[in-house]
Amino acid sequence: MIKISPSILSCDFSRLGYDVEMAEKGGAEYLHIDVMDGLFVPNISIGSCVQKSIRNQSKMVFDTHLMIVDPIRYIDDFYKAGSDIITIHYEACKNVEETLEKIRSLGIKAGLSIKPKTPVSDIKHLEGKFDMLLIMSVEPGFGGQSFIPESLEKIKEARELFPTLDIEVDGGINENNINAVVKSGANILVAGSAVFGKEDIPSAIATLRNNAEA
Ligand code: DX5
Ligand code: ZN
Repeated sequence: MIKISPSILSCDFSRLGYDVEMAEKGGAEYLHIDVMDGLFVPNISIGSCVQKSIRNQSKMVFDTHLMIVDPIRYIDDFYKAGSDIITIHYEACKNVEETLEKIRSLGIKAGLSIKPKTPVSDIKHLEGKFDMLLIMSVEPGFGGQSFIPESLEKIKEARELFPTLDIEVDGGINENNINAVVKSGANILVAGSAVFGKEDIPSAIATLRNNAEA
């Protein structure tokens, strides 16, 4: 069973509530919330107050992706704002294990993310300490970039190393490449522009799901 996680980074923020409602209506299981600090990545996006403002209107799994330096500082805030999964970057932590433990201590899932240039083998030693691996298939920082083709090999490698783990892929996923991403071993698919960049959000999600499962 695959899960679709629309990224609100590509929403029209003047009608965020409506876009989120359409994603849920379209059957998205997860909602991907991209948090950027202008340091770990060159862009600044949104903070926990925005996440909090949409929490009560949705039952989707809130999948928070922290692209911030030293993310342990903000885990409590996002937990309070309703995250079900908090994903941190391997490259951004002073102490990765402590950060993952902190997330799990709150009773929610801990995700570990790696940027395109970080090999999967770098995180093998952390097996059992996180609940989801997030493989970035673009350089983090912006929506609407093109999928890096070499990511497919990396997903396959990750699936071999972690046969039963949730593997999420984020960046440049669209109706044309989603099938290859799933066949390579991913089971949670983030999509920003391929969902919120479309006029009909539920039908965009349906197309992604159909192609993913084809
Ligand atoms: C990029 C973000 C992604 C992004 C995906 O740094 O982590 O979640 O919003 O957007 P698309 O699907 O348009 O690449
Ligand atoms: Zn993301």
